[in-house]
Amino acid sequence: NKDLIPFEALGGHDVLNRLVDTFYSYVKEHPDLYPIFPDDLTETARKQKQFLTQFLGGPALYTEEHGHPRLRARHLPFPITPTRAKAWLSCMEQAMDDIGLEGEVRENFFQRLTFTAQHMVNTPED
Ligand code: HEM
Repeated sequence: NKDLIPFEALGGHDVLNRLVDTFYSYVKEHPDLYPIFPDDLTETARKQKQFLTQFLGGPALYTEEHGHPRLRARHLPFPITPTRAKAWLSCMEQAMDDIGLEGEVRENFFQRLTFTAQHMVNTPED
């Protein structure tokens, strides 16, 4: 198991697809998040699946279609407060619980997401 890239250790496309779909079902309902997201999250979820695939060491699907992620720059049009970063991470935690993602692969993945979410904060608390 130690020899697998995180994308494989996690369970590959099937697991990532379930995780991302579950995640956005929570985002859609979250009072701090839904106001800044589009009503239709189909395209957002598709891009997030591409991004997280490469984030976890899988094929560079996001970059192949959209170029360098420049994630912080792409988030600048949206006011991302510390509260919204916490909300994003709580939706992800719930999604990981729901799909039964556990163990070291989850801990490492969530740790990296926490770091990235903090890096996206671009607006003080309102
Ligand atoms: C896009 C919010 C953190 C990855 C977006 C969009 C919003 C958003 C509003 C635009 C949705 C759209 O127009 O389709 C947030 C908030 C975060 C956060 C509030 C809290 C910190 C993250 C993190 C990651 C991430 C931690 C990656 C690990 C992406 C990607 C896109 C995206 C890949 C699509 C970019 C594109 O349009 O190509 N996010 N985000 N976001 N976000 Fe986040």
